[in-house]
Amino acid sequence: MTADIIDGKAFAATIRDKVTGHVARLKDEHGITPGLAVVLVGEDPASQVYVRSKGKQTVEVGMNSYEHKLDPETSEADLLALIEQLNNDPAVHGILVQLPLPDHLDSDLVINSIDPAKDVDGFHISNVGLLGTGQKSMVPCTPLGCLMMLRDKLGNLSGMDAVVLGRSNIVGKPMAQLLLGDSCTVTIAHSRTKDLPEVVRRADIVVAAVGRPEMVPGDWIKPGATVIDVGINRIERDGKTKLVGDVDFPSVHAVAGAVTPVPGGVGPMTIACLLANTVTACCRANGLAEPEGLTA
Ligand code: GUN
Repeated sequence: MTADIIDGKAFAATIRDKVTGHVARLKDEHGITPGLAVVLVGEDPASQVYVRSKGKQTVEVGMNSYEHKLDPETSEADLLALIEQLNNDPAVHGILVQLPLPDHLDSDLVINSIDPAKDVDGFHISNVGLLGTGQKSMVPCTPLGCLMMLRDKLGNLSGMDAVVLGRSNIVGKPMAQLLLGDSCTVTIAHSRTKDLPEVVRRADIVVAAVGRPEMVPGDWIKPGATVIDVGINRIERDGKTKLVGDVDFPSVHAVAGAVTPVPGGVGPMTIACLLANTVTACCRANGLAEPEGLTA
């Protein structure tokens, strides 16, 4: 048996189409254009690429994009003042501060200064608490994208055994909360987990988010399981730079029921979900019905 390959690029395009439709309706029926502000501090090349891509896709779906590129030496006070200004700007429905921030800035303080209703990353402690208690929140984009792909592939996830590899605040922990919300039996595995291959072998759903290239081999995977690979790792092979995930794709593909590729799996879903979250935030801010199929 070989696994179905889940096409994240195509799925992300369907999400963007839905967002485009909602944005057009917000404009036509309510005269509102959703706006997303992205703040980048410094010149990290990978962050610059992400921010450019976010801005481009925001405009493509018909929303307003506000980019704030700040000097690497920007003081915490100046950054907090900008966030306060964006919090109070009615044209801005979503705010994203690109991480990582330079070392002299306190990321927790900065993230928690964003209005939780505009926190389209879902990183503010209020949103973390709301998600953990099953209340309406802004949901982090990468786990939201993974959940959408799992529901699309498997339908109802209730009762399934899910293993999340990795315990980060950005992916692992919120992913586990979302799977729990869909009534999976959830295990969060990490670097200190005992008998990791055995733990992973029990899972109907594996979400790998550890940032270690090709760490999960096919013989850890239960035949027919669905594997979501969040890893984006750059490696050198045969004299070339290559992008690989956290799972060893060829051996996992031979055993699993479905698997996401790298690139072209989870990656494209993250920005699509950021756009979806911005529309959701805009609808909530204006007391309008939330778009269907774009939230958790
Ligand atoms: N850096 C890497 N991924 C992300 C993300 O999802 N949000 C933000 N704000 N920064 C990131």
